[in-house]
Amino acid sequence: MIKFENVIKTYNNSRALDGINLQIHHGEFISLVGLSGAGKSTLLKLIIGEEQIDGGKILIDDIDISQVKKSDLPYLRRKIGMVFQDIKLLPKRTAFENVAFAMEVCGHHSEKIQSEVPKILDLVGLLHKRDSFPEEMSGGEKQRVAIARALSHRPVLLLADEPTGNLDEVNAGEVLDLLLKINQLGTTVILATHASDLVNKIKKRVVTIEEGKITMQQEKGRYQL
Ligand SMILES: Nc1ncnc2c1ncn2[C@@H]1O[C@H](COP(=O)(O)OP(=O)(O)OP(=O)(O)O)[C@@H](O)[C@H]1O
Ligand SMILES: [Mg+2]
Repeated sequence: MIKFENVIKTYNNSRALDGINLQIHHGEFISLVGLSGAGKSTLLKLIIGEEQIDGGKILIDDIDISQVKKSDLPYLRRKIGMVFQDIKLLPKRTAFENVAFAMEVCGHHSEKIQSEVPKILDLVGLLHKRDSFPEEMSGGEKQRVAIARALSHRPVLLLADEPTGNLDEVNAGEVLDLLLKINQLGTTVILATHASDLVNKIKKRVVTIEEGKITMQQEKGRYQL
C-alpha cells in the first residue's frame, strides 16, 4: 500500500529522514517508535503530503505522490485519516457537530451526514456523548471523537501521531483498543508513539526510527531503544 524508497527529507540542510526504505501492506497495524526528534511526525507528514521529500520516492498504491498535482492532493488525503496528540476539536461544537463538520468540508450531503455520524460515534463508543461539548468530555473521549472525525470519510489508512501522549493510562488504553478495532475492521493503521508499554502490549509490527534512519523492524515486536 505504501512504499518508501530511499526517502530523504531535510529541514534547513539537516536530515530529518535519511534514506528511509519501508513497505506497509494493506490491513497492517504498524507502530512507529523512536525518541523525540527521531523523525516520526515527519514521516507521517510526507504520507499526507503536508511536507515534500528531497530525495527518493513515496508510492501510495503505486502512485508516486511527488507526481500528484497539488489540485489532486485533497483526493489523496481523503483516503487517509489523521489524528494528533493535541486533539484539536472545535470547542463550540458538540461531538456530533465536530464529526459532521469534517464531513461537510468534504462535501457530503446533509442526509448522508445525519445517517453516517451516529454510526461512526457508535463505532468509537461515544453515541451517548453525541451532544456533549469537548469541555464536557475526558481526554480519552475527546481523542475518540477526533478518531471518529478522521474516520468520517472512511479512509483506507489511519495515521495516528502520538494519540495517547496527553492521556492517562486508562484513556490511553481505550484509544489504543479503538485503533486496534479499526484495524480489525480493515483500515491500515500507523501509530507513531513513545509509549513503549502500549507497543509491547499489542505485539504488532514495530518499526524503530533513530535520528532519521530505520534501525529495526520487527514482526510482533517489542519497543527497544
Ligand atoms: N518544520 C520544521 N522545520 C525545521 N526542522 C524541523 C521541522 N519539523 C521537524 N524538524 C526537525 O526534524 C527532526 C524530526 O522531527 P519530527 O517532528 O519528525 O520528530 P518526532 O520523531 O515526531 O519527535 P516527537 O516524538 O518529539 O514528536 C527534528 O530534529 C526536528 O527538529
Ligand atoms: Mg512527532
